This record gives sequence, C-alpha cells and structure tokens, in this order.
Amino acid sequence: MLGSSQLSLYGIDPEYRLKIALQSIQKFHNDTEFIAITGDLANDSDPLVYEKFRYTIDNSEIPIYPILGNHDNRELFISYFPEFSGGKFAQYVKKIDNKIFIFLDTLVENEPYGELCEKRLRWLKSALDEYKQEQKYIFMHHHPIDCGLYEMDNMGEFKTKELFWEILKKYENIKHISFGHIHRIMHSSKGSISMHSTRSTTFEVAYRPDEKKEYLTNEENPTYAIIDINSDGETRVHHHEYLDEDKVYLGVC
Ligand SMILES: [Fe+2]
Repeated sequence: MLGSSQLSLYGIDPEYRLKIALQSIQKFHNDTEFIAITGDLANDSDPLVYEKFRYTIDNSEIPIYPILGNHDNRELFISYFPEFSGGKFAQYVKKIDNKIFIFLDTLVENEPYGELCEKRLRWLKSALDEYKQEQKYIFMHHHPIDCGLYEMDNMGEFKTKELFWEILKKYENIKHISFGHIHRIMHSSKGSISMHSTRSTTFEVAYRPDEKKEYLTNEENPTYAIIDINSDGETRVHHHEYLDEDKVYLGVC
C-alpha cells in the first residue's frame, strides 16, 4: 500500500517506506526492467494517494507497473492510470523479448476477496492464446493458492481459483506467478508453475495457522522481491529488507 491521506497506517508511514524501497532498487538494481506493484496502492481509495502515485510513476527512471488490490478503487485507478487498463478493467500485458508479463485485475469492489469474472477470464485466455510461444509471467493481487491463514483463505480468498487454474493448465510456458495481499513472504508451486509473494510497505502478517478469527500483524521488516529471470525462463527470487540494507558485513562461506 502506498498509503492514505493519514500520515500513518497502523503507526507506519507507507509513503516513506515506498520511497526508500524505490531508492534502494535504483541504487542496487538499476538494470531492473520494471518494478511491479502488486496492489493496494491506497488503503481507503483517497484520490490524493493516486495523485501522489501518478507523480511517483512519472518521475521514476525504472518503469513502474501497478495493479489493483482489494483496497483500491477501479474507477479512480483507471482515471489516474489509463495506460494500465484494458477498457473496463485494469488488466494489461507487457512484452520484453521472448517473455510476456500479464497483469491481472482481481478486485471485487468493497470486498476483501477477489475474483476473475467471466469477462476477465476471457481476457486472460485471449492473452495466453496470443502469446503461445513466449515465456509467461503473471502478476495478481490475490493469492491463487491457499496460504494457510484462515482469514486470508476464507474472507480474503481468490474465489475463482478453480476456473483460473483450469485455464492455465491448458497452456505451456507459464513460468511464475507473483502476488500480494497476504503481507508475507511465501513460496509455492502448482505443477511446473512457481509462485511467490513478498512483504508489504505497511504492516506484516504473522504465520499463525491456528488463528481462526482475524490475522495477526507483526513487526517484521518490509521487503521487496528481486525476480531474476534468465533467457531460458529460469527464475530466482530474492527478498530484500531495504530498511536495514546498510547493515552488511564481510562473510566467509
Ligand atoms: Fe489486499
């Protein structure tokens, strides 16, 4: 989340954390092709947040590609970022060499859960049809596989996961899915497709699988993930705690 009109969210300044994250990426990874932000740009659909984010995108040397999260407002998002919409929904494709990156819109407005309705699923299928030969990478907000936390897998779930996987299994060369929403580092796989999420620029979520009411937040440091892909499509993901990045010491293997 980029933030809200409040100075802080849960006692955290997400705007400051985003700024430090972008500076860190610029400093250590300035060969990055693009930065993907996996949703929840604004906590409370405040136009000021989208306005600030427009400024951030326009002034970043590295292209930034955002998607919608459950806290976002689609109409506002599309009005500020028309280049990231495909008509009624905020879904789009970026192609780099022999790779395509598909950005999905899983938002159901005013609900914590997400879905891909019939129209959005049809759009996904046509994007996969158009780029049959290319290596494919997907970015989405909601987790397409259960994460083991009760509230996230029930109230905040991705409701159309069966239909989603039904489509994906018909295509080859889908390599990796990156998602947001759970505010945790998680790696998983389904068939030959690997997946990951990283921590948030706001609060983080504790892994308490026995907690049946609400999720618990904790004070883990925020991270961004570096997704390194070679020409064969092999992917490696590193999670970087950027607030403490100056604390490095010589080590011996
Ligand atoms: Fe979310």
